Amino acid sequence: MKRICIYPGSFDPVTNGHMDIIKRSAAMFDELIVAVLKNNSKTPLFSSEERVNMLKEVTKDISNVKVDSFSGLLVDYADKVGACTIVRGLRAVTDFEYELQMAQTNRIMNKRVDTIFLTTSLDYAYLSSSIVREVAVCGGSVDKFVPEYVSDMIGKKLEFTQGGN
Ligand code: COA
Repeated sequence: MKRICIYPGSFDPVTNGHMDIIKRSAAMFDELIVAVLKNNSKTPLFSSEERVNMLKEVTKDISNVKVDSFSGLLVDYADKVGACTIVRGLRAVTDFEYELQMAQTNRIMNKRVDTIFLTTSLDYAYLSSSIVREVAVCGGSVDKFVPEYVSDMIGKKLEFTQGGN
């Protein structure tokens, strides 16, 4: 039976830290589904379709990675795609409480799905999507934080939104 893992998140946008988790977890499973949460409470810079498209582009060379989006409960989505594992990255101890709460809630709702944690590479332990957005909005370069394609997309998006003002 195929071992399928889900890496869920907002990915607004995908960062080098996310890429690190994607590459490492893809090597552990037959298939990794990077799943973009649609319609969450955060106000996104990119639409879910744009985030899915960016993820597809930056993961195109990893043959066992699929990109999808989902709404509703993550554990229901896991059942739908036949996944038995969810992977999340832990950057620092501050992530732990929230992640543990989510993992335990998910486990209570659905015993068929386990959550595993990978420690984020130290190179990216400080990184978050909102920091990337903030640097970009303030005119800084995000080349060190995101894949080149994503950096270009951020540039285009800000040119469009700020140009429209
Ligand atoms: N590298 C860089 N940044 C990372 C990271 C890594 N390895 N791991 C986490 N982050 C950052 C993200 O960039 C994001 O930053 P931001 O807040 O500045 O945007 C932050 O950590 C957390 O975001 P993310 O990993 O995208 O998770 P989330 O909290 O937005 O979403 C879901 C978490 C999607 C898994 C969760 O909300 C979910 O499952 N929702 C579906 C509904 C559901 O089932 N709810 C019940 C859950 S108990």
